[in-house]
Amino acid sequence: MPTESSIPVITIDGPSGSGKGTISRMLARELGFHFLDSGALYRLLAFAAQRRGIALDDESALAALSGELDIRFPADGDGDRVLLDGEDVGDAIRTEAAGSGASRVAVLPAVREALLDRQRRFRLVPGLVADGRDMGTVVFPDADAKIFLTASAEERARRRCKQLNEKRILVKFEDVLADIQVRDERDASRSVAPLQPAQDADLLDTSELDIPATIERLRDLVNNRLNP
Ligand code: C5P
Repeated sequence: MPTESSIPVITIDGPSGSGKGTISRMLARELGFHFLDSGALYRLLAFAAQRRGIALDDESALAALSGELDIRFPADGDGDRVLLDGEDVGDAIRTEAAGSGASRVAVLPAVREALLDRQRRFRLVPGLVADGRDMGTVVFPDADAKIFLTASAEERARRRCKQLNEKRILVKFEDVLADIQVRDERDASRSVAPLQPAQDADLLDTSELDIPATIERLRDLVNNRLNP
């Protein structure tokens, strides 16, 4: 039985809209690795709290709630499905409101602490691709490859609008951009696990890269780290 730390982990951190979600899912599939969408955990927590009437700044109630939630990411399907107490809430947690709720609960140290173990339990053979903000710095500091994806706020807002429009959710570019800027600021300035690259991370700016080009660069970076 391999020890947990001998199971390879690739961490992909960066701000929202940097392309992390799509890219890390594709990489996980290509390598046959498990996938952790850590943002979904924060989104689920905020979503469940709102349903239960728990305020998004009630730190101890939120930390307790995070231990109770029955969360499952079914391996089948398109990867967007997330089950909360057996109910598929995949679409509901990916709204702008849920994202902003997630970034509010994510500033609370007791919440981050309470979610640590849950995240580390995703490290299973044959390996894990973990997508988030603090995967390489806090959750898996011993990761085999750490990538930090970035893109300009404008480019990220453009991508987010396109994604939402494809789901027939109509949004204004200015609103999405403003939301991204507020969230970036909150993620970067919080006292616990602020959004920043790990010291040993490889940085990849995707502003000028499409998905296939990003994947290709990522593959090279990961290969260099896994087979130095
Ligand atoms: O990645 P996603 O946009 O789904 O994340 C939603 C929010 O959850 C982020 O804006 C961030 O505040 C928070 N988050 C975090 N740490 C992570 C993943 C997400 O603080 N590892």
